[in-house]
Amino acid sequence: MIFRQALASDFSSIYQIEQEAFPSNPWPKIQIEEAMVQSKINACYVLEKGNEILGYLMSYHILNENEIVNFAIKKSKQMCGLGSIMLDYYLDKIDSDSSVFLEVKRTNYPAIKLYLGYGFEEIGIREKYYSNGEDAIVMKKIKRESNVLV
Ligand SMILES: CC(C)(COP(=O)(O)OP(=O)(O)OC[C@H]1O[C@@H](n2cnc3c(N)ncnc32)[C@H](O)[C@@H]1OP(=O)(O)O)[C@@H](O)C(=O)NCCC(=O)NCCS
Repeated sequence: MIFRQALASDFSSIYQIEQEAFPSNPWPKIQIEEAMVQSKINACYVLEKGNEILGYLMSYHILNENEIVNFAIKKSKQMCGLGSIMLDYYLDKIDSDSSVFLEVKRTNYPAIKLYLGYGFEEIGIREKYYSNGEDAIVMKKIKRESNVLV
């Protein structure tokens, strides 16, 4: 299994995973394309096995703050530990003592359970944040040396 930066050629796999993972409100093509442009502040990673893209994680990075802005595992491969593997790789990559923020739908229990298991804590609520009127829970984790939970 390889965790690597996404290439332009990964777009169609990422777009398909996005549509299956978020059927009611997938990101439009243009937003995914923009997030896939790797830069000093933008990163998009994929998890690959053989020639198959199993998932992706998009994040922003400014100074010692990171934000996971999009993250999904291929629908047919969810609940097999791949989301945890991607988070492990991602947390290994970012600087120690940096913060990781993310927003998650209040009713997205699988994702919330995953993040809580990694030491993310709820730090706020954005009311009616999503287009369907659902609230977002804002979560934060500080990465310590050797990924110790804080
Ligand atoms: C959220 C997501 C990335 C998790 O990836 P995954 O590969 O399915 O997760 P894992 O198999 O690594 O599971 C890790 C933990 O998450 C939780 N979890 C994952 N799927 C779950 C489910 N359907 N129900 C309950 N808990 C679940 C469990 O706590 C699990 O730990 P356990 O094995 O000790 O029970 C994946 O389900 C997904 O792509 N969902 C759709 C897109 C999405 O919601 N992205 C997050 C947006 S913030």
